[in-house]
Amino acid sequence: MPWLNDLALRCRQCIDAGGGAAEIRDLAAKALSEQKAVPAQTDIDRIVYRADDLLVVSLAQPPFGNTPIHNHGIWCVIGVAVGREDNAFYERGPSGLVETHRVRLGAGECIALEPDVIHKIRNPDAVQSQVLHIYGGDLLGASRTMWNPHTGEERPLDQAQFEAWCEELTDLASKPIEAAPAW
Ligand SMILES: [Fe+2]
Repeated sequence: MPWLNDLALRCRQCIDAGGGAAEIRDLAAKALSEQKAVPAQTDIDRIVYRADDLLVVSLAQPPFGNTPIHNHGIWCVIGVAVGREDNAFYERGPSGLVETHRVRLGAGECIALEPDVIHKIRNPDAVQSQVLHIYGGDLLGASRTMWNPHTGEERPLDQAQFEAWCEELTDLASKPIEAAPAW
């Protein structure tokens, strides 16, 4: 979509000019507000731009889409184009991770996450959402970790296992409320 390509170009120029997460968040918020003028387009799940110092991804999150807890090791900007995205944040405690807070983003809203953030995300709704994830590096090639949702064990992020857990958690979250996990 043109607005995504335009945003990626502006992000590229911003990084080249010395900008960081705060400036990219403002660019994403502006782009999201402007793109509301055109009909919402979904089913878009693609890498918009990829370089060693910048990755722009448009993600179509399935109904109740859910991830395991993970980190990035680089800053991240999240923006919602269509629907909502919930973020739960964690910090390391003496006996494992401790949840610190949650943030719910609606359409047009953006947040910037520090490189050391540990989080998980979900789509709280029964309809597909469309979100932007922008990273201050090539996340796809980064060394980072994820937490086993069954045992809480931290381990190197393996994309195939990560996606398998996403499917499993999303399936669980889609079940009636009494059968679904707390988050
Ligand atoms: Fe993430």
